[in-house]
Amino acid sequence: MVSDLLQAEVEGQKLTDEQLLSFLFLLLPAGMETTTQLLGNAVLMLARHPEQLELMRADRTHIPRFIEEVLRYEPPTQLSFRTAMQDVELSGTKVPAGSLVFGLMGSANRDERVFEQPERFLPGREKATQHLSFGYGVHFCLGAQLARMEARLGLEALVSRIRGLRLRSPEVQWLPGFTIHGPAVLPVELIPA
Ligand code: HEM
Repeated sequence: MVSDLLQAEVEGQKLTDEQLLSFLFLLLPAGMETTTQLLGNAVLMLARHPEQLELMRADRTHIPRFIEEVLRYEPPTQLSFRTAMQDVELSGTKVPAGSLVFGLMGSANRDERVFEQPERFLPGREKATQHLSFGYGVHFCLGAQLARMEARLGLEALVSRIRGLRLRSPEVQWLPGFTIHGPAVLPVELIPA
């Protein structure tokens, strides 16, 4: 991919070293850290909802439904920020030009106007893909389909080899910080199939 970027031209211009490096610095955490947390969050939800493991063992096509609900319920990226380019009003709040605005996707994903019983973990729910875990609009995640595929392949491999899993401790130690959301460590005992 780096070779492709080096060859790429936009309106006859190659990318500058600065553009190339800043994209690669974005891509590494955007592509890796997030998918790592998605897998961690998925294992956590699997341990907390053993019936989901049964469903997946019986029918692998349930796995994408499960992943979509993990994305909604425990999004690996909790927030995104923007600078207001002009004065705007959002839900009655005036946002002056130049302000930094944080959009909390983790909160939007539990909006009861979109999702029925948002506090419940319900794979296969209605409007399942309407979460904002991959962002929205022009900056929508470039790797969304890749991330979904990686999570599916990871879970397919896990599910085919176990008949159960248990958390070593019911208390989850979450990563510190506000943006990236997932367990810092997740000791589990796997019960082989
Ligand atoms: C579960 C995994 C992932 C999650 C939750 C996620 C989440 C997000 C979110 C919320 C945004 C929008 C940020 C914003 O609007 O400010 C975004 C953008 C982006 N993501 Fe992902 N991402 C994931 C996986 C990946 C992967 C696997 C790649 C690439 C290999 C990737 C590459 C990018 C890039 C390049 C952008 C910037 C797009 C732009 O600004 O136009 N992401 N991602």
